[in-house]
Formats: sequence, C-alpha cells, structure tokens
Amino acid sequence: MKTLLRLWPYVRPARARLFTAAFVAVLASCTGLVIPLVLKWMVDGPVADGDTAGVWLGALYLLLLGFAEALLFGLRRWLVARPLSHVEAEMRAGLYRHLQRLPVAFHDRWASGQLLSRATTDLMLLRMFLAFPLTFLLVNSVTILVGVIIMLLQDWALGLVILGPAIPVVVTCVIFEKRYAGVARLAQDQVGDLTTVVEESVLGIRIIKGFGRHRSQARAFRELSGTLRGTELRKAGLLATIWGVIVTLPEVAIGAALVLGCVQVADGELSAGTLVAFLSTALALRWPVDSIGFLLAMSQEAATATERYFEAMDEVPEQETCSSRAAGPHRPADGLRFHDVRFRYPDAPEDSPPVLDLIDLHIRPGESMALVGATGSGKTTLTALVPRLHELTSGRITLDGEDITAMPRQELRSRVAVAFEDPTLFSVSVGDNVLMGADERELDRALSVAQADFVHALPQGTDTQVGEQGLSLSGGQRQRLALARAVVGTPRFLVLDDPLSALDVHTEAAVEAALRDVLADTTALIVAHRPSTVQLADRVALLSGGRITAVGTHHELLRTNAEYAHLMSGSGDSGEGEDTR
Ligand SMILES: Nc1ncnc2c1ncn2[C@@H]1O[C@H](COP(=O)(O)OP(=O)(O)OP(=O)(O)O)[C@@H](O)[C@H]1O
Ligand SMILES: [Mg+2]
Repeated sequence: MKTLLRLWPYVRPARARLFTAAFVAVLASCTGLVIPLVLKWMVDGPVADGDTAGVWLGALYLLLLGFAEALLFGLRRWLVARPLSHVEAEMRAGLYRHLQRLPVAFHDRWASGQLLSRATTDLMLLRMFLAFPLTFLLVNSVTILVGVIIMLLQDWALGLVILGPAIPVVVTCVIFEKRYAGVARLAQDQVGDLTTVVEESVLGIRIIKGFGRHRSQARAFRELSGTLRGTELRKAGLLATIWGVIVTLPEVAIGAALVLGCVQVADGELSAGTLVAFLSTALALRWPVDSIGFLLAMSQEAATATERYFEAMDEVPEQETCSSRAAGPHRPADGLRFHDVRFRYPDAPEDSPPVLDLIDLHIRPGESMALVGATGSGKTTLTALVPRLHELTSGRITLDGEDITAMPRQELRSRVAVAFEDPTLFSVSVGDNVLMGADERELDRALSVAQADFVHALPQGTDTQVGEQGLSLSGGQRQRLALARAVVGTPRFLVLDDPLSALDVHTEAAVEAALRDVLADTTALIVAHRPSTVQLADRVALLSGGRITAVGTHHELLRTNAEYAHLMSGSGDSGEGEDTR
C-alpha cells in the first residue's frame, strides 16, 4: 500500500478521470445489484398472479438495467484508457531522463537488463494495475458491501450463513499476500537477469559465434529461463491455492443458503421472490469475490514493480554545483592541473589500494602531455576524472585555476573534449555522430583532422546512417570518427584515450600530422602506448603504481627511466630506435 502510494504524483494529472471512472464502475456494479430486486418483484407479483403483461414489463426493466450496466462499464474503459497510457509514458520518460543523469558509477553497478526490464515490463504492470485492479478492488468492495447489506435486509439469517466464510477467506488472503510478494519480486528480478543475458548476447553475437559458444549460451539462457519458469509456477501455485479457497468457501455457503432457503419457503416462512432475489444477489457477488484473488496478485506485482521503479529513481543523480565562483573569463590561462588527486572506484573493496594515489601533474596552457603506463595502471581512470565522469576520492583538478567541481557540468564538458578508448557510435548519421549537437560548419575540419575523409565515400556521405553501435564501420574508422568528435569546436582542453591505437602506420602518421596543428594551441592529455603517439606530445608523464613517477620529454625519459624505456621498447616502432641501440 505504502509503496503504491508513491505512484500518486504520476497519477495526479489523471485523477479526475480515474475517480470518475471508479464512480461510474461502482454505479454500473450497483445497477447489476438492482436486477435481483426486480426479479423478486416479478416472482412475488406478476408471476404469482399469472399476469403475463407484468412479466413482460419486468423483462423490459431487466433488459434496460443490463444495457445500463454494459454502457457504464464501457464508459469506464473509455475514461481510463487515454490518461493511463499517458501516465505510463510519463513514468517511462522520467526513468529515461533520470538514467541519463545518473553518474557513471551507477551504470557500472547496474546490469543494463535490470534497467531495461524496469522501463518495459514493470511499467506495463503498473499501467495494467492502474487500469484494472486499482478500480476493481474498490468497485468490488463496494459491490460486496452493498450486496451483503441487500441480502441481510432480505433475510438476515440466510445472510449470516453467506457471511460465514468471510473470516477464513480474509485470513487466507493475508497469508497469500505475504508469500506472493516475495515470489513476485523474485520473478521480476529474474526477468531483469534474463533481459541482461539477451542484451549481452545480441551485442556480443560476433564473439559468441567466433568462439562457437552458441550452444553453451543457449544452455545458459535455458537454465535462467527455467529458473524463471519455476518462479512463475510457484506464483501460479499460490494463485491456485487462493483461488481454490476464495471460490470454494462462498460456493459452499451459497449451497447451504439455498437448502435452508428452500426449507423456509416450503414452511411458508419466506416468499419465493425473496429467495430468488437473495440467491441471485449471492450469485451476482460471486465474480466480485472470486476476482479478489487475482486482483490482489496483480496489485502485489504492481507494488513490486513500483518498488523496482523507484529503486532506480531514488538513486541520486550527478549534483549540479550552483557555485558562487568569481567571474571566469579573466582568469589567467593556467592549463590543466591535478592536485594530490586520489581515486578509488566506489564499488572497490574498502581496503584495496586506490587506483590513483596522490597524482600531481601540471599540463601547461597549450601544452600536450602524453600519459604512459602499463596496461591496467589507471590511465583511462585518470582521463575520466577530467570531465567528471567519476568523483575524486580526494584532491582537486583545476582548469585554468578553476576547480572542476565548482563549474557547472555543462560548462566543464563544453571546455573539455574527450575521445574514449572504445569509440562508441550511435544509430544516427555519421555527421550527427561527429557533431553531437555542435555547429555543422565544424564538420569538415574535424573530419580532415581525424583523417576521416572516408565518410565522403559512403553511400550518402555524412548523412549515412551508422548501424547499431557503429558495427558497419571498421574499428579504425570508428576510432577516427570518435577523434573527429573530440576535435569539433576547437575545445580548449582535449583528453584523448589512446586515440590512434587502431590505425595503420600510414593513417596514424597522417592523423598525427593533422593533429599537431590542433594540439599547437590546445591543452591536451593524450594516453599513448606507442612511441609514435607519444612523440605528438611536448612532454610525457609516466603513471606507475597509481602515481606519476616521472615527467619529461620522450628522449629524456628514455635515457633516465628504466621502466619507461621498457614500456616503449619492443613495440618495433621507430621512435626509440636510436636511444636503445
Ligand atoms: N568501473 C570500474 N570499477 C572498478 N574498478 C575498475 C573500473 N574500471 C577500471 N577499474 C580498475 O582500475 C584499474 C585501472 O584501469 P584503467 O582502465 O584505468 O587502466 P588503463 O591504464 O587505462 O589500462 P589500459 O592501458 O589497458 O587501457 C584496473 O585495475 C581496473 O581493474
Ligand atoms: Mg585504458
């Protein structure tokens, strides 16, 4: 109940219609309850008197009542359909918006399938709940109440017989509710796991095929879906039990009332019309009572879905700094500085050493600094700190003397352009992939810096659509597009994570030649593995054991630092040849 109340802000805009719909449904249901009273009047009046015209009149009343009931239920349906699909769409859009604003650390922690299933299955369950069980739990309760009152008024003794099973039914419902909650949650989580597997295997289809893993992948999937099936069966089992109780007990009570009623009519203590009215009221209440089982089940699932929805929504998004900072433009150019930066991944164990420990590094204005380190030494981590994809554990990073945490993210990210290790492309045109919202006039220059002129040879040039994840392009082509994306708009700060790793030597040389111009007046941090890339930079910083252990020019470090010389040797590249010989 408490969980479901959290839906209120979303349902609020639709409240007028929902309440009207509920009212209409109650009205429809109560119209149905008038039918037995007309029957009573018919049996005791025209039928007993042999008045044919009266019987026809009664039949006409019944027909009209039936029509009214049907019309009202139809009206209810019409009333709720549109606003509820709106509620669903709003909640889905809200979730998507929120996910975009959550920090990278959140996305590191959550499986994508779990998010996907929340945005699809769970929200669908919620819409169904709002459309159906929410109204009908109310409608059925009112109907049962009114019906019971009518029956007690007809004959209180028979009414009490009918009420007999109420207590055992309620007890069963309470027990059922508790059990069902656990299983429903389990099932929905398992749907999330299953979604993750499907998603990963769609994205990783090349690897699965290349390694001939499709059988084992299918087996893994079957096991997971088998588990889900087991959980669903447990749900079905629970539903069957409650359904059994809810249907059987009232049915027995009706049977008992029928027998008792007949005896009373035979003794002349009760009119036949009253018995007919009584029994048809009881029968009219059968559906409202029977349906309570699955209405409760659906509500329970909706509660679980709400819980899962808000688990994601309650995660704190990246905080926007409303700084009281001094006017920015007059600051002297100071370049990019790391002050005692320490960083540990939020999900890393407490006692593990930080990935980066007391990093002190100054990249002067207009300078390009190469960052070299063994694989896994934390280079990518360091570069991700500059655009604030992760929050520092301690220390500061400044751009031209201004702390990046004091800057609105929007501004920070417009000053710093990045190209990441894996060049992700979106399913939009090549041009849009590069521009990412920037001015269209920038496109050609950026493409030529990145030596990505191949796009002009594509079927529709820069308007060519890139396939999902850019899979229709080669690795090197994607990397060049990612590089072009970074240099669009001539950013003041450039952070490149191994931007040329997938290029052949000739293309690499061409990109380097073009990049040199860009780098001439850009402050840049470039992660590099190869001597050829390192030589793009004015100076080199060596990252080792979470610290910057040496800073200097490529040739200085080659001479003075054994670790650096080791990292740079053996690549077969020309850069260090003369020094190591
Ligand atoms: N999201 C993460 N959560 C926890 N630990 C991580 C995460 N990403 C990376 N790490 C760990 O941080 C360390 C540094 O990783 P990083 O990706 O920064 O290395 P790198 O120097 O860029 O390596 P490479 O040269 O192979 O690209 C690794 O030990 C890695 O296991
Ligand atoms: Mg890396």
